[in-house]
Amino acid sequence: MKKIGLLGIAYNVPDKVLTNSDLEKMVDTTDEWITKRTGIKRRHIISDPKIATSDVILPAAERAIERSKIDKEDIDAVLIGTVTPDYFFPSTAAMVQKKLGIKQAMIMDFEAACSGFLYGLDIARGLILSGNYKNILVVAADLLTKITNWDDRNTCVLFGDGAGAAVVGKREDAHELIDVLSSGDGKLGDLLILHGGGTVNPMTKEMLDKKLQYLSMDKGAEVFKWAILEMTRISNKILEKNDYTSDDVDWLVPHQANIRIMEGVAKRLNIPIEKVVITIQDFGNTSASSVPIALSKYYEDGKIKEGQLLLLTAFGGGFTWGSALIRW
Ligand SMILES: CC(C)(COP(=O)(O)OP(=O)(O)OC[C@H]1O[C@@H](n2cnc3c(N)ncnc32)[C@H](O)[C@@H]1OP(=O)(O)O)[C@@H](O)C(=O)NCCC(=O)NCCS
Repeated sequence: MKKIGLLGIAYNVPDKVLTNSDLEKMVDTTDEWITKRTGIKRRHIISDPKIATSDVILPAAERAIERSKIDKEDIDAVLIGTVTPDYFFPSTAAMVQKKLGIKQAMIMDFEAACSGFLYGLDIARGLILSGNYKNILVVAADLLTKITNWDDRNTCVLFGDGAGAAVVGKREDAHELIDVLSSGDGKLGDLLILHGGGTVNPMTKEMLDKKLQYLSMDKGAEVFKWAILEMTRISNKILEKNDYTSDDVDWLVPHQANIRIMEGVAKRLNIPIEKVVITIQDFGNTSASSVPIALSKYYEDGKIKEGQLLLLTAFGGGFTWGSALIRW
């Protein structure tokens, strides 16, 4: 029977590695603090400011298409979740479609910060159910280091760059997307925000002098608390809705923002830490790409096996959050 699901998945990160020791030379921090408070040891970052988000996406997208064993001509939509697009417009999806040489397709960016991959799966599933689309390239990618203030130790130690891509389609051998839920609430959006460059604070010299072009995080501990609460809540909701319990879950694939957030979610869901996909030590928080990077890394390492039940969950700026159940 044909199922809607993932046909292929892949990730890509830039080659340059920035370690905690490197950061010790840049801001007032220590490897010990970063490791203990976040679980991060190193992160991949772009080595050349000319590299754009679409450049990092390209190898991931090509590999995902190859693994899905479809012709790129059969892709009829490219959806990209990113808060660091190549340009305001045209969309990064337009750049990727052009660079991949895909025929005409629906090309669209959307913004859901770290929940980008889950939102993308949700939109893709809806489009396929409409009957008008067959194979959708869902990309979640961010180069947060482009909007990082390297003098701000509260944020610059947290982030890395990366891209994840998956082809969602309807086929007998798809990794079935059993269900996906997306949610959000703008009332605490100010806690994680990039103030400058948009219509509220357009790009002016004054805006740049105030350093508003950089991501800012107010009250990290508050973001931490909400991340645990909402990821737990929406994970329980999707399990219940589909008549599963957390005992049925083989792998929890959470957004990789902080090891302590992941431990908090796993504990509240009653999922042992051995069943949690953890890649934060090597990549940091890669925003939208964090969930697909974690998923495809464990898949490439042979840890995720056919038939296993995966529970994906993410939380990010907006605030946004989501969950998905996949039968691999
Ligand atoms: C940011 C985060 C790691 C901070 O950890 P925390 O345990 O909450 O730490 P606090 O914010 O309470 O700060 C503790 C102290 O460490 C200091 N500190 C912050 N960054 C530091 C760094 N890089 N190195 C050393 N000290 C640091 C703070 O200044 C503070 O010092 P003070 O007590 O003298 O004021 C954590 O709150 C977090 O992960 N939040 C969620 C972030 C997130 O997920 N963001 C993206 C959403 S997708």
